[in-house]
Amino acid sequence: MLNSASARAHTNIALAKYWGKRDEELIIPMNSSLSLTLDHFYTDTQVTFDDSLTADFFELDNRILPATKLTPFLDLVRQKAGIKTFATVKSFNHVPNQAGLASSASAYAALAAAASKAAGLELTRPELSRLARRGSGSASRSIYGGFVEWQEGHDDLTSVAVPIEEETDWKIGMLAIILNAGVKKIASRAGMQHVVKTSPYYPAWVKESQADINALKQAIANRDFTQLGEISESNALRMHALNLAARPPFSYFEASTIRAITMIEELRAQGVSCYYTMDAGPNVKVLCQEEDLPTIKAYLAPAFGTENLLFARPGQGVKFLEGDLHG
Ligand code: PMV
Repeated sequence: MLNSASARAHTNIALAKYWGKRDEELIIPMNSSLSLTLDHFYTDTQVTFDDSLTADFFELDNRILPATKLTPFLDLVRQKAGIKTFATVKSFNHVPNQAGLASSASAYAALAAAASKAAGLELTRPELSRLARRGSGSASRSIYGGFVEWQEGHDDLTSVAVPIEEETDWKIGMLAIILNAGVKKIASRAGMQHVVKTSPYYPAWVKESQADINALKQAIANRDFTQLGEISESNALRMHALNLAARPPFSYFEASTIRAITMIEELRAQGVSCYYTMDAGPNVKVLCQEEDLPTIKAYLAPAFGTENLLFARPGQGVKFLEGDLHG
């Protein structure tokens, strides 16, 4: 066979985070999470199943990389489709590598869509979400646009993302402040595993997370930006508190992270409604309303440089692309 398909998926940033697995193999989380898909950052991926190949091949941004991480994921697709054919995976990441934005979310969501289609499967979006979840938990949410909830569920069938508001007309977005171009110190998989095992606050985190999701959903329904921001910021800090309370402790904060956070708090004290969130890295993302963007940028630019301030609006769910990818 020689079957090819391409797909585009956008990345997402969690407002109520996923940080810990109940099942490492199936990637069933300890708690549900809620995110915003972003328009500006995405991955395009083409998968070609080709009978003449003797192994899987992977090319990212025109550079050949080992396919070791992709093969177990492609095996899931092959198993579902009842084929044994190897594949070439060609990806272009439009998530600035250094942005500390979760490129694994857009990467696995695009891969799930392209690989399943190329293998002859016609998966529904819930099925695509469950498949993407097996690559990276946060990828389950990137199947949908706008506000998305990944419902924790209890097994492979029930742990799936659902859209809350796919096409939102709310003029909000995320301003990513790029603080550090380096690779993250502790991969999310290892970080979350460690806190589940050793952080005494972990049970409280799980217990409180559903209340945050409920409050966020209410904020979205009421277009209450203050509530959306306050809950998101507090949820992010609780996640990072788990890391500080682990044994041994660890942290994704750097000096520049604290500087950025302090500046967001200063802006807020001046009456600008903006809130921060952080993931498994030092970079800070500012949740804000579009009307405040010029003020926020003007305040942050002297400290971090305009080129390190990247704004994204709510983005779309995964979609298939026609023809071959050329970057
Ligand atoms: O999906 P992963 O394994 O990249 O983990 C994502 C973890 C966080 O980004 C910190 C939180 C989240 O819900 O996206």
